[in-house]
Amino acid sequence: MTSSGEAAQNGFVPFAVRLWITGKMARTLSVYVCQSCGASHPKWSGRCDGCGDWNTLIEESSGGPAGGPARSRGGKPRLALSLLKGETQSPPRRATGIGEFDRVTGGGLVPGSALLIGGDPGIGKSTLLLQAAAALAQTHAVLYISGEEAIDQLRLRAERLGLTEAPVQLAAATSVSDIAATLDVPRGADIVVVDSVQTLFVDELDSAPGTVAQVRASAQVLIRLAKRQGFVLLLVGHVTKEGMIAGPKVLEHMVDTVLYFEGERGHQFRLLRSVKNRFGPADEIGVFEMSDRGLREVANPSALFLAERERDVSGSAVFAGIEGTRPVLVEIQALIAPTAFAAPRRAVVGWDSARLAMILAVLEARCGMAFATCDVFLNVAGGLRIAEPAADLAVAAALASAALGRPLPAETVVFGEIGLAGEVRAVARTDSRLKEAEKLGFAAAVIPQRKHSGGLTTMRLEEVARVADLLALLRRSSPRATVSGSSLASTAHG
Ligand code: TYD
Ligand code: MG
Repeated sequence: MTSSGEAAQNGFVPFAVRLWITGKMARTLSVYVCQSCGASHPKWSGRCDGCGDWNTLIEESSGGPAGGPARSRGGKPRLALSLLKGETQSPPRRATGIGEFDRVTGGGLVPGSALLIGGDPGIGKSTLLLQAAAALAQTHAVLYISGEEAIDQLRLRAERLGLTEAPVQLAAATSVSDIAATLDVPRGADIVVVDSVQTLFVDELDSAPGTVAQVRASAQVLIRLAKRQGFVLLLVGHVTKEGMIAGPKVLEHMVDTVLYFEGERGHQFRLLRSVKNRFGPADEIGVFEMSDRGLREVANPSALFLAERERDVSGSAVFAGIEGTRPVLVEIQALIAPTAFAAPRRAVVGWDSARLAMILAVLEARCGMAFATCDVFLNVAGGLRIAEPAADLAVAAALASAALGRPLPAETVVFGEIGLAGEVRAVARTDSRLKEAEKLGFAAAVIPQRKHSGGLTTMRLEEVARVADLLALLRRSSPRATVSGSSLASTAHG
């Protein structure tokens, strides 16, 4: 290497080296694709520049169907152009009749569309889709293609779910060309479930099933076919922590709708959440409860999330949140304990830990509380994950209640965003939140100050302008049984 480098510098390249160089250049067709983020690199390296993961680059030839160059056509391109205004019918929908599922898809599945259902392995994707397939099979031609389970296993599951009578057509296959040959017929299936996209392969690529190239190429063939033949394609994708199998992220831009099926393993309920939907609302959730006979719809999630709530304990606040288009009440629990370590612990389940750090800082800087010698634990009960800033005030209420050892006034919901100056900011959809709380029997609400009074409510409203007002409210309530132990009130209360 050094000698040829010196030679090249001197302007003299030996013949053998020139041959070697041209040989190298002819082979630059392969690219190195990161198996976790999908970034492609011209050269191999140990670490992906895109996502920073190690050992995730795999050599793939770039000439496959996924990355093939567009064929140049003779003649000028002629596109049919049209105006924004015009006659368009809203797309027909194929509803499952499973209310929570249809809500998330925006009222049913649109013919010719492709949906991706992502989720951790074992979370219940196959169960959900088999139930949806069986429901749809009453009125549509439904095909369920499994690359993970054999036909017998599928039948056993159907038996357990009591769905054996549904006329769902089953197939066990992983070859995309076989699947495409079956589906590429006029008036074929209406709904096609493919479980999972990580087991599929196209013959043109040498990489293993589950790699980014295979996953993308397979999905692309099937999506194009769905558009052409007008069937609904439901692709299952496992979320993967390890980099060696491509996750659903690499497909999100290719499909019309992305749904994630989530839930805590130890909990019995599951959320179906739409994160992208070209035919309906994004961020909508459907709530299901797991049972030995499959997933059951939960029509009133607030009641479920609050079912095991203990009344009159400190460190607990009920947050009136909005998930998608509907209000959901959920309990936020905080525990504050003296730390045994130099660096106190901050543990969060179901919320953002950076946001917790911010709320703690506001309570310290603006309200004179001290958490430096305390471990702080925050939990959103029931396994829900909250992303709304409106939860700030409820989190602050739970933390302050734990620190002071005083419960919030009975049957009270809390919501509002907190700013760094300690101010409480208004949030959207106050009326829906209050209405849901009222429906569930709550008598009072601690909310941001309103510019104009909204809809009628019989609830007692405590409008707070600053976090300090919330603390004053807590101090007025009587001390009761406490989660965190009464001795701590003095530790944390600065
Ligand atoms: P499964 O649907 O196979 O998960 P995934 O396809 O996401 O990997 O479900 C995992 C296991 O949980 C399976 O053994 C069946 C069981 N299960 C129930 O018993 N009841 C339920 O309601 C669900 C959803 C799953
Ligand atoms: Mg499965």
